[in-house]
Amino acid sequence: MKAIFAVAGLAITMAVTAYGMAPTTAAAVKTVKLQLVKFGEDNALLRPEGLENWVFLGTTMGMTYFADEPDPTRPGLFSSVFIAPEAYEHFERMGTFADGTVFVKVVRETVGEEGGFFMGDELGIEVHVKDRQRFPKHGYNFYFFPAGVNEASAMPEDNACVACHAENAAYDNVFTQFYPKMHQRLQ
Ligand code: HEC
Repeated sequence: MKAIFAVAGLAITMAVTAYGMAPTTAAAVKTVKLQLVKFGEDNALLRPEGLENWVFLGTTMGMTYFADEPDPTRPGLFSSVFIAPEAYEHFERMGTFADGTVFVKVVRETVGEEGGFFMGDELGIEVHVKDRQRFPKHGYNFYFFPAGVNEASAMPEDNACVACHAENAAYDNVFTQFYPKMHQRLQ
């Protein structure tokens, strides 16, 4: 009787393996894959929707990617960074970025008035997408949408955006050092 059960058990294991399903031990480890944005052909990205409800992470002012030094006499642009709510929930719970996590940086003109500066027109948005299947080399990539543009092509996997983020960002290629809530969660 015992022998029959053992053989039956083996047959089931083999059938599962033959269909390419995960063995039972690995099945217990649930991998999270968030679907937060829509893609077109060749990993092109459609402009993320519902940004007004995303979680605000932080704003920087006057940062330039390519000039040597920001000009202290001019305020430069405002960059505000947001994360999709579901991705933020996962981060809060686990302290990691789930596959499918999306960040958006909204770049706006700075309008100056005596006594302060405020945000002017949107110049464009930049997007950081974590997706190991689409971007097998680094596991993430970037997109740029000038204002009014609704679809952006994926950049080659090695690009200037990846190079700076990989080198300087504090956590998993994200600049968490400039996002106070995230920085705190990671302490
Ligand atoms: C020279 C360094 C540098 C380069 C190059 C760079 N970034 Fe960033 N990026 C930053 C910094 C610093 C931040 C932190 C937020 C801020 O200051 O605006 C940031 C934040 C971001 C964020 C918010 C999420 C995150 O990962 O922290 C996005 C999205 C982003 N960058 C997109 C891009 C895109 C798209 C490109 C290429 C066109 C790019 N970046 C190139 C330095 C860089």
